[in-house]
Amino acid sequence: MKYVFGNWKANKNYSEVQSWISEFQSKPLEIFEGVVEIVICPPYPFITTLHEAFASTPWIKIGSQDISYYGAGRYTGEVPAHSLGDIVSYSIIGHSERRSNFNETNTIIDQKAQNALESGIEPLVLIRDGNDTIPSNVSFVCYEPSSAISTGEGNIVQHNVPVQDIIEQKSLLSIPADFKFIYGGSVTTDTIHEYARVKEIDGVLPGSASLDPEAFYHIARAFVELQN
Ligand code: PGA
Repeated sequence: MKYVFGNWKANKNYSEVQSWISEFQSKPLEIFEGVVEIVICPPYPFITTLHEAFASTPWIKIGSQDISYYGAGRYTGEVPAHSLGDIVSYSIIGHSERRSNFNETNTIIDQKAQNALESGIEPLVLIRDGNDTIPSNVSFVCYEPSSAISTGEGNIVQHNVPVQDIIEQKSLLSIPADFKFIYGGSVTTDTIHEYARVKEIDGVLPGSASLDPEAFYHIARAFVELQN
C-alpha cells in the first residue's frame, strides 16, 4: 500500500472546500482502492464535511494537521485527540511549521503522538533531520527538510530533493524497515514520478499541490500507474 497525504495547511473556506470535493469526486476514485490510501488533511472546521463526503470511499481517509498536547477537558480552543478519534484516521504531528512557529519541541511532539495513539489515530510524525526524535510506538514517519517546503511563490520545483538524498536520509535517520516512510517537500505533478517509483518511499505529503484537486489526483494516480 502507498500513501498520499494532502496537507492543506491554513487554506480554503467552506465554499472552496465544496468545490474541491466536487471536482475530486468527478474523477474515477475506484482506481486507488487497495493500491493507494489517500489522506486529506484540511483545517479543523472542514474535517467533518470531508469525512461525510468520502464515507463511501473508505480508501480515502481524513487526517488532522495537528492534535492537542492536552486531553479532553478545560482547554478552551484546543482540539484534543478524543474529539478527533472517530472522524480522522491520521494526524500530522511535528510539522516544521509548528516546530518553528509554535515552538513545538520533541517532548511536546512525543506527547501529541501518544495522545493520538490512545484515541486510535495513526500519527504521521514529521522529521527534518537527526535532531528530531521519533516518538515510541509510531510507525509512520515523514522526512521533510524545511528547505524543501515550497513557499507558494512558484518555486516548488527549484527545491526538489534528489531521490538518492532521500534514501540516504532514511538510513542516516535510522528509520526501521517496517516503518512507513513518507517524503514531503515540494511534491508536484512534475516530480511525483521520481518518488513514486522508489520502493524505499511508501508515500508522499504534498502541501501546495494538494490544494488543487486535479494536481492532487495526478499525484496519487502516479502510484497506480506504476503498479500497472
Ligand atoms: P509543499 O508543502 O508541498 O507545499 O512543499 C509540504 C508540507 O509542508 O507539508
